[in-house]
Amino acid sequence: MSVGVPGVLTEIDEDPFDLIEEIEQLKRDKDVSILAHYYVDGEIQDVADFVGDSLKLARDATTVTTSTILFSGVHFMAETAKMLNREKRVLLPDMLAGCSLAESCQPEALKKFQDELRAEGRDFETVAYINTSAAVKSLCDWIVTSGNAREIVERVPEGKEILFAPDQHLGRYLSEVTGREMILWPGSCMVHEVFSIQDLLTAKRKNDGCAVLAHPECPQNILELSDFIGGTEAMRRHVMALEEPQTFLIATEANMIHPLEKSAPQHKYIPVPGIMADSGETCACNRCPHMARNTLQAVRNCLRDETPEIEWQPFFEDAREVVAKSLLN
Ligand code: 13P
Ligand code: SF4
Repeated sequence: MSVGVPGVLTEIDEDPFDLIEEIEQLKRDKDVSILAHYYVDGEIQDVADFVGDSLKLARDATTVTTSTILFSGVHFMAETAKMLNREKRVLLPDMLAGCSLAESCQPEALKKFQDELRAEGRDFETVAYINTSAAVKSLCDWIVTSGNAREIVERVPEGKEILFAPDQHLGRYLSEVTGREMILWPGSCMVHEVFSIQDLLTAKRKNDGCAVLAHPECPQNILELSDFIGGTEAMRRHVMALEEPQTFLIATEANMIHPLEKSAPQHKYIPVPGIMADSGETCACNRCPHMARNTLQAVRNCLRDETPEIEWQPFFEDAREVVAKSLLN
């Protein structure tokens, strides 16, 4: 069932089973494949044709055989699917499904900063997290996801500086594991930035012998308390490889527990809660409000009405080149 998220209307008037049936029928009638990120509601993941992290879904997008892709995720993900599939129609259930990281790095601001660095004579390459708009991607040398970031950073020639945008926490972590100094853009993910240290410590005390799995979008203080650091797909593979039942505290978006439970049901998973910046109270901030716009109803409406659609933009061509060399090779 959907988990309530502040600001997102909960479906109360339609039966989820009817909606799922309708979605299955519309997919067949309209020749659509659904790609869903691990952070959308479990019931949408279950009705999707491809489920995964950002890297897997970008790669999956190139193998789709239907004429239309419905991307159940956020805007930058649907844009990436479109740039890799110019001839296909790419739908996104809600155009307001954005991302705080992508929002923090506007193309004009990035271009201005790059120009300033060049004017200072700095010799650098720009490495951007996939959580950026296509316009930003078109200004970059490399695109990384949490699944291939280390490998891509190691491809940047040693003599070059690295400008890493927009996730300062992922950039700091990558700098630590690769030993490469980075100029960091000051962006962050609104979900991973607010995990409560206090609640994490309490949960660790209460669950003797548990292990903490954290996404590298988390700040350093959370990563320092973690036993395993990795993107969503790396987390899933990690728990699958452990046969002995264990308890895991999960420091990433709470819907990630759905694929973890499906892939490795022998374990117990406990989500780490977030903390409200203004009041300091524990909240449901471990749910991404952008991902939560992908309700069953929004997916059904999008399939039925065949809108909203990601339109091809001229800068998609340059963005496609950098995405293809970084993620598909
Ligand atoms: P991954 O899918 O690479 O784990 O990234 C998580 C995320 O925050 C997507 O928005
Ligand atoms: Fe962006 Fe964070 Fe939501 Fe992922 S979880 S889409 S990084 S705001």
